[in-house]
Amino acid sequence: MHGTVRCADGHAFDANRRGYLTLFPRRRPNVRGDTAEMLAARERVLGSEPYRSLRGAVARAVAEDATEGAVLADLGCGTGQYAATSLAGLQAPAAALMADLSPDAVRAAVRRAREASDAPVLGVVLDLWSPLPIASGVVDRALNVFAPRNLPEFARVLAPGGRLITVIPSPGHLGELRGAGGMIDVRSGKREQVQSDAAEAGLRLHDATRVAGELPASTPLVDDLVRMGPSAHHASTDRQTPHGPVTVDVELLVFTRAR
Ligand SMILES: C[S@@+](CC[C@H](N)C(=O)[O-])C[C@H]1O[C@@H](n2cnc3c(N)ncnc32)[C@H](O)[C@@H]1O
Repeated sequence: MHGTVRCADGHAFDANRRGYLTLFPRRRPNVRGDTAEMLAARERVLGSEPYRSLRGAVARAVAEDATEGAVLADLGCGTGQYAATSLAGLQAPAAALMADLSPDAVRAAVRRAREASDAPVLGVVLDLWSPLPIASGVVDRALNVFAPRNLPEFARVLAPGGRLITVIPSPGHLGELRGAGGMIDVRSGKREQVQSDAAEAGLRLHDATRVAGELPASTPLVDDLVRMGPSAHHASTDRQTPHGPVTVDVELLVFTRAR
């Protein structure tokens, strides 16, 4: 999947030689994607436990019940680690789409996905809060890991029986950093809210798995954790680096679109 992409109205868009194109609505979004510094910090953190376990759990959820020739879309792909691990576990995937607001992220994700799989990979720089430039009912597995969750649009692009694999933080996630003023708080009742919004969009909860562990007390890694997340856009100057390990506690939720 490279070269030219066409829409139902006959418009054609060329991917650049790095394998991605930019599809914003007429008015460019007023939000920022991850910066190169945030992406570099994320790469380092995702290479450590317990994030490696989370990647494995995501890939297993993607592969469960998937048939040969599945289409995978990573919506808010970042540098594409989750998509690459998931693609490697799918049987002859038909195509993969790496989508994010950050061109640096899409570029890295396309490269990584192509290393992991022979499937055609296309990258799209887009705003997840706008109508997605994806046809209805064509995606078998949609990934959405710590990224904006536009559930009505995710449900629309999923094929009947397709699945959305999403990850949300539990209240204790990175709690030591929140206590030290380095992170944005997790809203209480987040899981219930996501589940009820998903049901409204036509997505039924199929499975929920908790993934928890500790990041070792290591100042560079802890600094990376702060740098890689949305809090990096709201850098706090009075943050104290915690001395002990940092809790990672998330829920992997799998939703199915009704047939
Ligand atoms: C916390 S990162 C997660 C990235 C990746 N899924 C991971 O876990 O490594 C959130 C991602 O969402 C992207 N993002 C933020 N707002 C977005 C928007 N409105 N549309 C598309 N992507 C967005 C950021 O650029 C970033 O790559």
